Amino acid sequence: MFETLKVLPPDAILGVLADYRQDSRSHKIDLGVGVFRDEFGDTPVLSTVKKAERFLLQNQSSKAYLGSQGDPEFNVAMQALVFGHDQGHNPGIYTVQTPGGCGSLRVGAELIMRVRPGASIWVSDPTWANHVPLLSGAGLTLKTYPYYDFADPGIRFDAMQEGLRQIPAGDIVLLHACCHNPSGMDLSRQQWRALADIIVERSLLPFVDIAYQGFAEGADEDAFGIRLLAERVPELMVSGSCSKNFGLYRDRVGSLSIKVANDQVRAAVSSQVVNIVRGMYSMPPAHGGEIVTHILNDVALRAEWNEELAVMRNRLKAMRTLLVGALSRHVSERDFAFIERAQGMFCFLGLTPEQVGRLKTEHAVYMVDSSRINVAGINPKNVEHLAQAIAAVL
Ligand code: LMR
Repeated sequence: MFETLKVLPPDAILGVLADYRQDSRSHKIDLGVGVFRDEFGDTPVLSTVKKAERFLLQNQSSKAYLGSQGDPEFNVAMQALVFGHDQGHNPGIYTVQTPGGCGSLRVGAELIMRVRPGASIWVSDPTWANHVPLLSGAGLTLKTYPYYDFADPGIRFDAMQEGLRQIPAGDIVLLHACCHNPSGMDLSRQQWRALADIIVERSLLPFVDIAYQGFAEGADEDAFGIRLLAERVPELMVSGSCSKNFGLYRDRVGSLSIKVANDQVRAAVSSQVVNIVRGMYSMPPAHGGEIVTHILNDVALRAEWNEELAVMRNRLKAMRTLLVGALSRHVSERDFAFIERAQGMFCFLGLTPEQVGRLKTEHAVYMVDSSRINVAGINPKNVEHLAQAIAAVL
């Protein structure tokens, strides 16, 4: 039966990592997949995560099944992290634990399909490459609204508003809460307010992806758009992730939250989500969720985690400044100052796929074909090589 299967090309993002690992050149630089790296190029386990793991080792009394909604304590803690403390445990918001942000997006898409098969979901142009298979794989129809301006790096906000005003009432709009992946260009608070007006006017359903909470300005600050929408719209879906802010990438920890109108809707949503999850992966893995719950519910550990988050956030900002400085010395014909206006891990360099290919083969510099870079891969030791390589291919 399987003889008819075709070999597919490698994943646009994970494929870069596989290529990088095979390169034996010692000066190679990985700016591909979105994982945090320290100045030595390592992705260490957070100290608060280690402490929580030690606590679990001593105190965990059972590994019995959790249930399809995951750990109720985790769900309350994540709800408070995303929606704010006064909103945490809000009966109007239903939250389930999911295997990472990917699991959350897919369960959300499957839930939409139960109400409106084939519904249109509008994503930013461009968006995270994996949004496409996660959402369209469930059966949703993907469409795009204008977002990033490649010619003049920033958000095409007028075009974005115009595009959103044309969307038929009831369609779904996928938004990035912060650290837009891939461009790094985030909406200002004023722009979020204008967007909320359009969403209300057009009766659109916002589905907000917050995969990088705490990597732009802070855990609360980065949730501004979500908290604003939660006050203004009757229904809202939010996909949360603990991959980056807790460094729990491989443990697969995420959440899906849905703002519901009343208890009856909540009961229906909950039963449908449980049914979807049971048919897909039965229940989320427990370990990572228990770590997050322990950290968020312990005052001292939570404060320490906030500091660790700030260290990661500040490193990303510092590496942007370092790269802009190095590029200004090596490339006189282009202004790369916009790199410092982007937030979180990513931004585009504005290179062609051919130039990206040359960076890889001639200079051992790895990035996604679109020239999206993960600035966490930069450090004081490799930045000169990186800037010289970029200058060479330009
Ligand atoms: C990325 O965009 O690089 C990360 O979100 C990791 C992934 O799974 O693609």
